[in-house]
Amino acid sequence: MKHHINGAELYIAEKGQGAPVILLHGFPLDHRMWQAQVEALSENYRVITPDLRGMGHSDVPVANISIEQYADDILTMMDKMDIQKAALGGFSMGGYVAFALLRKAPKRFTALLLANTRPEADGLEARKNRMNMAVALYDKGASAARDAMLPKLLTEQTANDQPGLVESISAVMASMPAEGLVHASLAMAFRAESVDLLGSITVPTLVIAGEKDAIAPPDVMSKMADAIPGASFHTIPAASHLTPMEKPEAFNALLLEFLKGVTA
Ligand code: MLT
Repeated sequence: MKHHINGAELYIAEKGQGAPVILLHGFPLDHRMWQAQVEALSENYRVITPDLRGMGHSDVPVANISIEQYADDILTMMDKMDIQKAALGGFSMGGYVAFALLRKAPKRFTALLLANTRPEADGLEARKNRMNMAVALYDKGASAARDAMLPKLLTEQTANDQPGLVESISAVMASMPAEGLVHASLAMAFRAESVDLLGSITVPTLVIAGEKDAIAPPDVMSKMADAIPGASFHTIPAASHLTPMEKPEAFNALLLEFLKGVTA
């Protein structure tokens, strides 16, 4: 349903009852990427999957937005939904927002999932690519992001074996508001460095990588996990970037086991 948050209507899906688990989607996606996790977790948890401002069914920002502002939206959302504390999960861009949340309000999170994400800020070349993406989004619409991202999300094997999955991911990406994706691209381009944050994370942390992920490669993620005290690190075999959708059974098994340990 829609909630009025920090001056905008944001779409927030919610299912199940129990300890709250908030899952933050990646770019250029929305809450629908978490469908398999929502199904698996909602038997025992209150699973909350918002569409970040400008993506999915949420309002497009009217002024510049930053990763910090996405994080502020999540904190306001928690206040409005009476959630004092929650387990927090972020996939890729959602991980960048999770880092911002841990900087702003570490006491409000009981556990952390980092999936296919990285703590470094963008370098100049990556920033330039984001600017080019913003221009392409204005020229061609959301299909510019879809065309750039789709080949990087699944392994070739999965794409060949599961044309239906490719089709549904493609449809979600093509349905995004193009200008919302422009805002997201620029927010990611100028996001803060989070490497220094890692050592100060005190909540139980699960880090999940995809064996063949070129966007957040396993070696980068394993280094990140090493820097987080007590974090556990897993690589899902034969998976590319979009592990929650490409290998939902393996992903859910890791996540459920982790949550059972931290919410017991
Ligand atoms: C994502 O999956 O959210 C994006 O690939 C993240 C990024 O472009 O840095």
